[in-house]
Amino acid sequence: MIVKSLDHLELVSQKIGDNLSKSDCIFLIGEIGVGKTTFTRNLIHYLQKKEKSNITEVLSPTFNLLHEYELKKYKIMHYDFYRIRKKKEINQLDVLSEKKNEVLIIEWPKLLKNKIKNKLEIYLSYRKNDNERMLKFKGFGKWKNFKNEF
Ligand SMILES: Nc1ncnc2c1ncn2[C@@H]1O[C@H](COP(=O)(O)OP(=O)(O)OP(=O)(O)O)[C@@H](O)[C@H]1O
Ligand SMILES: [Mg+2]
Repeated sequence: MIVKSLDHLELVSQKIGDNLSKSDCIFLIGEIGVGKTTFTRNLIHYLQKKEKSNITEVLSPTFNLLHEYELKKYKIMHYDFYRIRKKKEINQLDVLSEKKNEVLIIEWPKLLKNKIKNKLEIYLSYRKNDNERMLKFKGFGKWKNFKNEF
């Protein structure tokens, strides 16, 4: 789908937020600055508003690798593996071990081997127009038929 603006991206993250449940995983795939963190911020803020929690800062985890957000229903683990060069480093992080009460959101997931059941891969790319983006979805498990009708 074509996302026409930042506001439009918010609608996309809300739709995904409404469908999100514990042990889901979202992979965000696309070039530097395309909007992976922006999408994640929208999503977390939307969920925080929805459950009437405090709205926290959502910053890029490029340097920390991980930022965690404690929601009422589950915890969101926001990873960014941009700086990681070796699979071994990710394995050591133990990202995918039995964490039933967590939602994983991962930027730059390409080194991550995974057998996650309910996963939504979002492919983001630039368009000629500055504020437009192309988004493609590839879903697995419960996300298999996720449609972008909005
Ligand atoms: N429709 C849009 N969707 C997403 N971002 C947009 C859009 N239009 C403009 N932007 C801008 O593009 C930038 C996206 O930056 P962001 O940090 O989210 O990218 P990123 O993919 O996380 O980059 P990195 O790979 O460095 O982590 C922001 O400044 C955002 O305001
Ligand atoms: Mg980012």
